[in-house]
Amino acid sequence: MAVRTAVIPAAGMGTRFLPATRATPKELLPIYDTPALQFVIDEAAQAGCTRVVIVTSRAKPSIENYASAASTDKVTVSVVYQDSPLGLGHAVSCARQAVGDEPFVVMLPDEIMGDASLTKQLVGLYEQSGKSSIGLKRVPTAEVSNYGNVKVASGASTKESSVAILQVVEKPKQADAVSDIVIIGRYVLSPKIFEKLEQIKPSANGELQLTDALAMLASENALVGVVSDITRYDTGTPMGLLRAVIEIALERKDIGPQLNSWLKEKFNK
Ligand code: UTP
Repeated sequence: MAVRTAVIPAAGMGTRFLPATRATPKELLPIYDTPALQFVIDEAAQAGCTRVVIVTSRAKPSIENYASAASTDKVTVSVVYQDSPLGLGHAVSCARQAVGDEPFVVMLPDEIMGDASLTKQLVGLYEQSGKSSIGLKRVPTAEVSNYGNVKVASGASTKESSVAILQVVEKPKQADAVSDIVIIGRYVLSPKIFEKLEQIKPSANGELQLTDALAMLASENALVGVVSDITRYDTGTPMGLLRAVIEIALERKDIGPQLNSWLKEKFNK
């Protein structure tokens, strides 16, 4: 079945950006002049999605305002609500009715990708395998504990090829890591994920974790991934956002040259 819906969870508290997030939701903080959320909406459209469902909170009315003007001739943008921030797994389950009984993409708006190629690849992999397909990346071992960590079937070393996922562990201690491969914020999910999300229990921090539902799919041989080296900006922290702003601005034809010469002037002093 074709994948036409993208779900963007945007109901989190954004505590790492306080005090900025008292004024502006994290997902609307600008990458130079464009909100992070817009990058993800554009990526969804480029990957062939015609519907975007943003999961937001009633405490963040500016997201709903933004969404109300974000539809284009390619993509219709709507919102659903998560009444309290009970975790990413819970946020995804809030989109169940809007998605219906069909596969969908989940895109985390605090990870900005250089282009839509990974999402396109995951959509293609889902359409060919019928299995939920998620974005993966190799990281230095010291960083594994910041992410969902996966063990993949052997023969998975080739870059950008699909791999079967055998095990999923949420943010393991370095000593308990099952590999150096982690989950990044693009997922193409079968609607079966909603049944799994009903079964999971809150983790130690009280949140319902998407990775626990993914672990159930992995144990049923129903989860695959793509180990990618796509350009990716983790804009979930202030320093990550700052780097993304500078690097993306440097790439732009309109402002890149000006920024480049200002930086050179500044550092040659
Ligand atoms: P994060 O954990 O990075 O976002 O979730 P957060 O909770 O807002 O950040 P901090 O830790 O307080 O700084 C990744 C994405 O999932 C959404 C967030 O809005 C973010 O886009 N999310 C997270 C929800 O929609 N609901 C939740 O309950 C949790």
